[in-house]
Amino acid sequence: MIIDTVDSNFLNFRFPEKEGFLYGFNLYALVNGTDVLLIDTAFRTQARQVKEALTSKGLQLTHVLLTHFHPDHVAGLAALAPEITVLGSQEYTRTLTKDIKQTVTPVSFSGGFSFGEFDLSFTPAPGHSPCSILIDINGNYLHAGDNLMSRYDGKAILPWVEYHEIAGHISSLELLKAMNRGKVLLGHGPALLNSRDINLAIDDRLSYLRSVLNSSGKCSWEEAIHGCSCEFTGKEFFEQLKRD
Ligand SMILES: [Fe+2]
Repeated sequence: MIIDTVDSNFLNFRFPEKEGFLYGFNLYALVNGTDVLLIDTAFRTQARQVKEALTSKGLQLTHVLLTHFHPDHVAGLAALAPEITVLGSQEYTRTLTKDIKQTVTPVSFSGGFSFGEFDLSFTPAPGHSPCSILIDINGNYLHAGDNLMSRYDGKAILPWVEYHEIAGHISSLELLKAMNRGKVLLGHGPALLNSRDINLAIDDRLSYLRSVLNSSGKCSWEEAIHGCSCEFTGKEFFEQLKRD
């Protein structure tokens, strides 16, 4: 695990891919005095390491905010205290497959949430999952969850989406592009820190998803990635999509 400082009171816990795995994890933490809000937990192993690192700094995990409720983002809750405040989309029940010991408090899409010096606001971005959200941090950073995914070295990972959710994923990516942000954080892969890289990453995913949708899922792999400027990894997501 590598710990970086993103900004004042803003930490990034980075976990490179383990051998044979498609992706690693990026967990971001906001600090308010000794209290910490963690964005996503990854699995128990990663959550435990983050918790121990925070404890060694005299900090304590009080809040977890979830970009969505897939296992690779929420399973770490099992290693955390039941009294932690867990925040996420009210649509979480459509995605969460296992019971968790914490109670989920739905975020407000109109009111936002304040944590120390951080003002957070949330936008629904369904597609990758029905409960995916975009998280705005002080109008400066935008966490895109798994709307964009990449490997630890930045190599693009193909969007993961169920066939019937492709149109929603496209709409969410169009929304993300229209937000025209300069600093986008990801759950998997390094942050994108300029508009050109962000737009290119979005356009490549859009091109792939539109090709699949326009062919009613019948296109070949070559046709699916025809308009993409990057070389995607994660071709298995395309194969799975065809079987939906
Ligand atoms: Fe994920």
